[in-house]
Amino acid sequence: MHLLSSSCVGSLVLVLATLLCRVRCIEEVVGLYGETLEIPCNKGAVNGEDVKTITWKYHKGDGVSGNLLIKHKNENVSIDGSDEYKDRINMAANFSLLLTAAKLTDQRTFTCMVMAAKTAIDYYVKVLVYKAPEGVEISDKAEELEIGKLTKLATCVARDANPAAKIIWLKNNKPLSDDGKGISIQTSVQVDPVTSLSTTTSMLEYSANKEDTDAQFSCSSQHSVGKQMTSSPLTFTITYSTEHLILQVNAQELVEGDNVTLKCVADGNPAPSSFNFHLKGNVVTVNNTDTYTLTNVSRDTTGEYKCSLIDNPSMVASKEVTVDYLDINLSPTGSVVKNVGEALDLTFQSNSSRASKVSWTKDKVKLHKEPKFHKLTYSDSGHYECEVTMGALIKKLSFKLLVEGAPVIKQLSKQRGEDGQHKVLICEAEGSPKPSVSWSINGTSLHESPFVGGKVTHKITVVPTLNLTVLCTVSNKFGEDTREISVSPLFEEVRVDKRDQSEDGDQTKLVVGVVVGLLIVAMVIGLAYGIYQKKSKQGSWKTGERENGSSEEEKKLEEKVEENSQKAEV
Ligand SMILES: *[C@@H]1O[C@H](CO)[C@@H](O)[C@H](O)[C@H]1NC(C)=O
Ligand SMILES: *[C@@H]1O[C@H](CO)[C@@H](O)[C@H](O)[C@H]1NC(C)=O
Ligand SMILES: *[C@@H]1O[C@H](CO)[C@@H](O)[C@H](O)[C@H]1NC(C)=O
Ligand SMILES: *[C@@H]1O[C@H](CO)[C@@H](O)[C@H](O)[C@H]1NC(C)=O
Repeated sequence: MHLLSSSCVGSLVLVLATLLCRVRCIEEVVGLYGETLEIPCNKGAVNGEDVKTITWKYHKGDGVSGNLLIKHKNENVSIDGSDEYKDRINMAANFSLLLTAAKLTDQRTFTCMVMAAKTAIDYYVKVLVYKAPEGVEISDKAEELEIGKLTKLATCVARDANPAAKIIWLKNNKPLSDDGKGISIQTSVQVDPVTSLSTTTSMLEYSANKEDTDAQFSCSSQHSVGKQMTSSPLTFTITYSTEHLILQVNAQELVEGDNVTLKCVADGNPAPSSFNFHLKGNVVTVNNTDTYTLTNVSRDTTGEYKCSLIDNPSMVASKEVTVDYLDINLSPTGSVVKNVGEALDLTFQSNSSRASKVSWTKDKVKLHKEPKFHKLTYSDSGHYECEVTMGALIKKLSFKLLVEGAPVIKQLSKQRGEDGQHKVLICEAEGSPKPSVSWSINGTSLHESPFVGGKVTHKITVVPTLNLTVLCTVSNKFGEDTREISVSPLFEEVRVDKRDQSEDGDQTKLVVGVVVGLLIVAMVIGLAYGIYQKKSKQGSWKTGERENGSSEEEKKLEEKVEENSQKAEV
């Protein structure tokens, strides 16, 4: 058995031995690249006392072996080696083979042959030389990632490792795996022809989404020796094309003359900086802005407006723009002079896009309706203004009317002065321009009223000594009017007054008048009282109201009675 083992040169036997005692007999030693590798003989359990000779050999392949070291008992180690190993080998005191500057070509099976007095045993040691990668390098970093587009994000390289390093990609420190859609990872390994070290290259293709804006991407190497190495994190600008386009109008309500700014609001990263504005058939391109201003809009501006992307005309937004208008028309306007008694045709028209409100004023005083002038009077003169309001828009038109004509005396009357010593004559006239008033007698001028609405009232005080006929004459450039009034002397009148206060009075007439008046009052009171009685018999809840009404009526009646009785007294 031992013999058989020791002469395990034939490949059949070697395979057999390998199969039989893979764990026990063929030991595996892993060394680090470039460092000194210790290859122990029988795991270090060699009794130096029994050993006559220890020989280290290595398998060259094809069943050929090469010599390395030989040590006879009580002798120094001698290098029996070939060119390949002679400078890098030595033997430790416990018979381990020491190999400096381990290389990948050292990955082979070494044999330690221990010859004792009666036995010769071969111990096989399989050597593996491992090397961690130098680090991880990132290259070909993408400038930006476009959402939804599979883009080469970066390449990660782990150089010079054995066995080849494994590269994993991380997003926010969580591993990414190739899902055949949004994530594609292509890995390749290249072996250096000189060192036989492997360089692993991994390329990540990635389809970004919006949440990747601040995501940190990194790559990491995994290797059986050495610790995991991770690249510094990468972040990317996430770009996406415009998905939403909105056309905004900066005003809620537009009226003619306004300026309106259209704004084309687009998302996307980077957002578009140029747009086409479609202005009712016209296309205007703007650069480095997203607005277009329409100045001094009119009702013709009303319509549908659009904006679109220059590089993607199918991306369109539209907005309805409505410009309100208000036209008003008044005839006549300016200054109008008319003759009294004539008609004035007034036409007012308003045309507006929305409901409007019309109001009229005359000399700044509100009128309840549009004025009509079928037969002009002096009081119609004035400044008329109509104001039309539609939302915030207000328009006004006005005209100034002057009614002219020859003066007319409306009334000529007389009054006894308060002190009984004089008489007051009152001449009321209408006309325009303002008529001048003259009297046929000299009197003390008391008062002339202001000239309002074509009316003027003139009063004089006279102290007549005999029966007089006094004339009042009013005139302006259009003509004149005269009326007369008889005035009797005061002393005579005082006497007359005792009989009859009225200047031209007729006592009989007055007495009859008073009697008739009293009769009427009595009838009215009777009638009212009858009604009151009837009503008060109705529903009690109404009674109060009716009573009030009745008492008011009664009050009025009483006043009338008083008035009449006063008249009766005079
Ligand atoms: C052999 O000796 C060296 C020191 O000379 C020691 O480092 C090593 O661990 C020993 N090997 C075994 C297998 O005992
Ligand atoms: C605005 O337009 C109207 C006619 O559409 C014109 O009469 C008016 O002068 C314009 N105003 C300005 C300030 O341009
Ligand atoms: C009025 O007075 C003037 C002088 O002041 C006189 O000339 C005239 O005769 C008088 N007229 C009458 C009607 O008394
Ligand atoms: C004035 O007229 C009245 C009648 O109208 C007459 O009775 C009176 O005598 C007259 N007086 C004078 C002073 O003429």
